Amino acid sequence: FLGVVGDELLMPTYLVGGMVRDLLLNIPNYDIDVVVEGDARIFSHTVKRYFDVKIVEHKSFKTSSIFFSDGVRIDVATARTEFYEEPAVLPNVETSTIKKDLYRRDFSINAMAIKLNHEEYGLLLDFFGCRKDLAKGIIRILHNLSFIEDPTRILRAIRFEQRFGFKIEERTLQLLKKAVNDGYLERVTGQRLRDELEKILAEPEPQNAVKRMTKLDILKHLFPGVRHSKELQKHFDRLFTRWETIEKLTNESRKITVMVMLVLENTPEESTDWIISRYGFPKRLPEVLKTSLRILKKLQEMEDWRFSNLYRLMERPSAEIFHFIDAHFDEKKSNILLKYLKALESNKPKVNGGILIQKYGLKEGPEIKMILKELYCARLEGLPESEEEAFVRKLL
Ligand code: CTP
Repeated sequence: FLGVVGDELLMPTYLVGGMVRDLLLNIPNYDIDVVVEGDARIFSHTVKRYFDVKIVEHKSFKTSSIFFSDGVRIDVATARTEFYEEPAVLPNVETSTIKKDLYRRDFSINAMAIKLNHEEYGLLLDFFGCRKDLAKGIIRILHNLSFIEDPTRILRAIRFEQRFGFKIEERTLQLLKKAVNDGYLERVTGQRLRDELEKILAEPEPQNAVKRMTKLDILKHLFPGVRHSKELQKHFDRLFTRWETIEKLTNESRKITVMVMLVLENTPEESTDWIISRYGFPKRLPEVLKTSLRILKKLQEMEDWRFSNLYRLMERPSAEIFHFIDAHFDEKKSNILLKYLKALESNKPKVNGGILIQKYGLKEGPEIKMILKELYCARLEGLPESEEEAFVRKLL
C-alpha cells in the first residue's frame, strides 16, 4: 500500500536501510524505513486517509513516523543530502534524490533501496556495489568523511561486524582508527554514544564487540583513564555470558550500568563524576559501586560460603550489585552465588514484620529487622517453615 500512496502523490517511494539488508540476508526485521522523493509529511498524512494511524512529525529532519494500532511503525523520510555545519553535530537536511540519500548513509550494506511504486515494484537499487559487499561480508563506508561526519558510526561498524560475523574493510578500518585517535568520539554527545553502546550490549553476545572496542582503543576514548587489562576483559566476558541466567532470578537491571561499574572500578576516581554526567548515568552509581566493592572484598576473604553467612553479609543484593560481584568470581563460586539466589527465593520466611507486630506486639524498628534476619538465616540453614514461629518465640 505504501507504493499505492506514492503513486497517488507521484512520489518515488523506497524501502531503505536495515530492512533491505536483512531481506537480502533472509533475517526478519520489522523496522520499516521508507524514503520518498517528496515531502514525507504529506506522504504520511495521505496514509492516514486510508488507515487508522497516528502520525508523529519530526520537523527538523523532514521525517515522520506512522504508528498503526497493532504496533507496526513506519518511519518515512524525505530523500536527503545531509550537510554538516561542523563535524559530529546532527546534520541539516536538504531535499534530494534517492541516490544521494543512499550515498550519505553509514555503510554499503545499509545503502540499498527497494522501489515500492507500482511500475518498478521490487526493483533493487544498488549504486555502490552494496550487494556484493553483503555477499562477501564486508563493512565498508561510502566516502572518506563518513566517520568524521558521524562518529557514532565507529560503534555501528563494530556492532554490525560482530552481529553478522562480517569484516571491516581495510581502508574503512584505517579511517575508523584515525577518527578514534583524532578524538572524534569525544565530539559526540554522551547521549548518542550511550544509545549506540546500549545497542551493542543488546546484541546476543556483546563480549566480542567489547573486546574489539578495547583492541581499537575505543574504550579509552569513551572512558578516559580506564585501565585495560585481561582481568577487566574477563569480568566483561563473565558479565555478558551470565547475564540472562542471573536476570531470571533478580529484578531487571541495565547491562550498561553494570558495565560502567566495572569500568569505574578500573578508572581513577577523579574521572568518575565526569563519566557519570557525560553519559547521564544515575548519580547514586558511585555509592552503589562502593557498596559492591565492600561486599566483594569481604566475599573474597570469606572462607565459609554457607548461605547464612552470605545473607549476613549482603542479604538480597540489588541486581546491579549481584551482577557486578558475580563477574569477579570463577564458575565454581558463581554457581554458589546462583544457588544462593535460588535459596533466597525458596526459603523466604512466612513470618514477616506485620505478623511480628500484630501477633507478638513488637514495635517497628531495629529489633524486628534483627529477628527477621536471624529467621531468614535459620531458614537458609534448613529450618522448616512449620517451625518458624517456634524459632521466633525463642528469640523474643
Ligand atoms: N544510518 C546511517 N548512519 C547512522 C545511523 C543510521 O547512515 N549513524 C542509516 C543506515 O542506512 C541504517 C538506517 O539509517 O540502515 C537505519 O538506522 P538504524 O535503524 O539505526 O539501523 P539499522 O540498519 O536498521 O540496524 P538495526 O538492524 O540494528 O536496527
